[in-house]
Amino acid sequence: LTVAVLISGTGSNLRALLEAARHPDFPARVVVVGADRDADGLAHAEEFGIPTFTVPWHEHDNRDAWGAELGRQLEVWSPDLIVLSGLMRLLPASLVAQYAPHIINTHPAYLPEFPGAHGVRDALAAGVSETGASVIVVDDGVDSGPILAQERVPVLPGDTEHSLHERIKPVERRLLIEVVQHIATGELALTS
Ligand code: GRF
Repeated sequence: LTVAVLISGTGSNLRALLEAARHPDFPARVVVVGADRDADGLAHAEEFGIPTFTVPWHEHDNRDAWGAELGRQLEVWSPDLIVLSGLMRLLPASLVAQYAPHIINTHPAYLPEFPGAHGVRDALAAGVSETGASVIVVDDGVDSGPILAQERVPVLPGDTEHSLHERIKPVERRLLIEVVQHIATGELALTS
């Protein structure tokens, strides 16, 4: 299974996937990593010798133009699966439609709780005692697609957004790797 990963940030989830995919018996290969900016996480791809591209958000007039360029970049690789891992942009509906349901996303909350760009901060603000991590199929909503995997993560007294997010991320990484593996082996069928 060929995988394209899209990021915006540090790419710690990406790195975990690259490390898993290094094992010869892992049934998926990351063939390209893309970002909507000069993301720090692109360095992980470079370290692993994986091609990268950036489609800077600010170089396009609107989401559709940005999405069209992103689509052209992805077409070079025609990946079997697109993994959004810390991409902080919504894909335009046209791009989702082109790849659906072969686009998955990791989210640092127990969806449908706390969707959107600030899931960790929102869980803290809500004062819940537990939140979670989720891997879902991307549809043209915001974190609203079918849930492929999720697991609860406790919120501890004194947690900050950072400390809670750092507790969530390892769970996210494990779930993401499991989901990619199961998609590659066919144990998990994607439906939109
Ligand atoms: C992850 O928790 C992801 O789910 C969220 O942003 C974080 C990205 O972290 N959208 P990283 O860039 O993988 O370190």
